[in-house]
Amino acid sequence: MKPRITGRSMKTSSLIADAEFVLELPKAELHLHIEGSLEPEHMLSLATKHGIKLPYKTLDDIRAAYQFDDLQSFLDLYYLGAGVLMDEQDFYDLMWRYLCRCREENILHTEMMFDPQTHTGRGIAFETVINGFTRAMGDAKTEWHQSSGLIMCFLRHLAEEEALQTLEEAMPYKDKILAVGLDSAEVGHPPEKFQRVFSRAAEAGFLRVAHAGEEGPAQYIRDALSLLDVQRIDHGVRCVDDPSLVDELARTKVPLTVCPLSNVRLCVYDDMKQHPILELLEKGCRVTVNSDDPSYFGGYLCDNFNALAKSLGMTEQQAVQLARNSFVASFLPEEVKQKFLSLL
Ligand code: ADE
Ligand code: ZN
Repeated sequence: MKPRITGRSMKTSSLIADAEFVLELPKAELHLHIEGSLEPEHMLSLATKHGIKLPYKTLDDIRAAYQFDDLQSFLDLYYLGAGVLMDEQDFYDLMWRYLCRCREENILHTEMMFDPQTHTGRGIAFETVINGFTRAMGDAKTEWHQSSGLIMCFLRHLAEEEALQTLEEAMPYKDKILAVGLDSAEVGHPPEKFQRVFSRAAEAGFLRVAHAGEEGPAQYIRDALSLLDVQRIDHGVRCVDDPSLVDELARTKVPLTVCPLSNVRLCVYDDMKQHPILELLEKGCRVTVNSDDPSYFGGYLCDNFNALAKSLGMTEQQAVQLARNSFVASFLPEEVKQKFLSLL
């Protein structure tokens, strides 16, 4: 089946982007944790399949538990949920479901994060995880030309030594991994803790991204850029606390992969109306819209765009610019970027 490319014309205007406009807009998603796309129904069925006891009995129990005060309260449930992924078929199915969602939402390219240490720490082989994911990615490419890549993240609450070991373990699969990243609990685990890991990854030829300035200070964004030499910053919204950093980001066009629904659900902002993404866009920063962990935060990529339209009055022109930024900020080869951009 072919993906939907365009429906009605993509003329820009000052109108607020509606749901149909957002759906038909060709988009890339650059900040999506594949383990964060595990839907409650799938979690329960895998728990049954493997005889794993969860602290939830029903879907309503799971939904009721998804009330977060901050990043850590989310991460505790997120790692617990990921514990139902056991065999290669589980990883395949998780990936397949998200890629089907990409087809439905006209996400023509996706760069997805995965956390190998969440699985290898429970005795699951690295090979099981990566083979499940890449087999689904290959099938989606064959079936509807879905473009996708993997970003292998290090868990920053764990030791540097464990990240170095994970990098070593990934070396035989280097061709299947687009970039390395840094996620999990930010405050107290500054970029400098992983400077050697990222420099080794760079020597091995990996592109680099890092979560910075989600809950942590603007200084972590500066440090991720200078110490980890990243090509993109994940989240980065706390840059607004440092106007000279915003100016620098606008000048250098280092992309920020922003996740609006995530920021509200994790109480970075009390209300979507306070979200700075459109201000950053208007200042010339290369911001993109992303869903982070859609099954935990109440929405996939289109839901994030729609929330910006509803709460911030995002115009169609701004929506097109955000979609354009998503392809420009991707790690696709230049000619492929141009092909996708020509659809806008
Ligand atoms: N892992 C999954 N989602 C995350 C987030 N929003 N921040 C840090 N680590 C994560
Ligand atoms: Zn994230």
